[in-house]
Amino acid sequence: MAITLSVIKADIGSIGGHLAPSERLLETVRSHVAEQGRDLVLDHYLSFTGDDIAILMTHTRGAGDEAIHRLAWDAFLAGTELARQQGLYGAGQDLLKDSFSGNVRGMGPAVAELQIEERPSEPFLFFAADKTEPGAYNLPLYLAFADVMNTPGLMLSPAIAQGYRFVIMDVGYTEGDRLVELQTPEDIYDVATLLRDNERYVVESVWSRAKGDQAAAVSTSRLHNIAGRYTGKDDPVMLVRAQMHFPATGELVAPYQIGHFVGGGMRGSHQMPLMPVRLNSPISYFDGPPVVSCAAFSVHEGRLSEPVDVFDHPFWDRVRHRVAEKAAEMRRQGFSGAAMLPMSELEYTGVTEKLEALDKRFRIRS
Ligand code: F6R
Ligand code: MG
Ligand code: MG
Repeated sequence: MAITLSVIKADIGSIGGHLAPSERLLETVRSHVAEQGRDLVLDHYLSFTGDDIAILMTHTRGAGDEAIHRLAWDAFLAGTELARQQGLYGAGQDLLKDSFSGNVRGMGPAVAELQIEERPSEPFLFFAADKTEPGAYNLPLYLAFADVMNTPGLMLSPAIAQGYRFVIMDVGYTEGDRLVELQTPEDIYDVATLLRDNERYVVESVWSRAKGDQAAAVSTSRLHNIAGRYTGKDDPVMLVRAQMHFPATGELVAPYQIGHFVGGGMRGSHQMPLMPVRLNSPISYFDGPPVVSCAAFSVHEGRLSEPVDVFDHPFWDRVRHRVAEKAAEMRRQGFSGAAMLPMSELEYTGVTEKLEALDKRFRIRS
């Protein structure tokens, strides 16, 4: 059966700063999707990660469908109304345009969609990250799909060994979608060369070379490109299919034990390690650390199983402790050097304005 998995997420307001949405806010979005989506979607699942609400939907209408996107947009609008009534912080923060124009892409919400021919068993993973940028998935995707040290399937399974096609977007280009396609294993050094720069180059999708079908879809929106100014971190979502001619679930989640440093955290302006957390976790330390959650599903004829909370396992407690240590260690150096993001990624204009003012006070010693 041909189905589409669509996940659309937005930050439309949260309690106590950028921590988590309120229960009534979640309920408002949930009931809107359940009622208005009754004849549109086959199934749906609602969750939050930090201050972001994600609506995962299954349907047969294809990627970029106007009705599906409108359903999510309207649900977020209804939620924004409630968020304002409750006085939640940043109400409607990610809804950057006034009126819906056919597709939520370029309007603020993050979207990732997979149009697939369902396998007899179709396991897939839904990742959501808060307080970080789409490039946060670059390293995990590289390791899972191209590095044999992480993914023994690249040696063991003939289908996986044929490699993958990476579609990488230059998110610094704002006139349109600027993309490059690279094939692994032969192009791995080129893939790595681009993916080292999480702010500029972002994996948009990954495709199987053995069967030609799509393995992964990542939301690539950069809010500051849409709004023309800094409006908070993008907080990307991702859908990844697992098993058979794709990496195993364990191979796909293994890279998150690194807790690699990504852009995000306090005022969206710092480098902090990415912490794997349970589903529906709030934010805490230093407006971070950046977090990622993972819900594993099986989907059959468009019907979703209940999710398995992948990072809710004793193994990840040890990882969380180590990532907390890394976060605290980095924070010990405050504003210095690697702790903060480069100028182009800083939130607010304070640093630029101060530098401009200070520039006038510099003198060249004769
Ligand atoms: C992302 C997020 C952050 C904030 C940023 C600015 O979910 O919440 O990127 O938008 O930290 O927040 P304030 O309002 O503190 O400037
Ligand atoms: Mg926020
Ligand atoms: Mg957020």
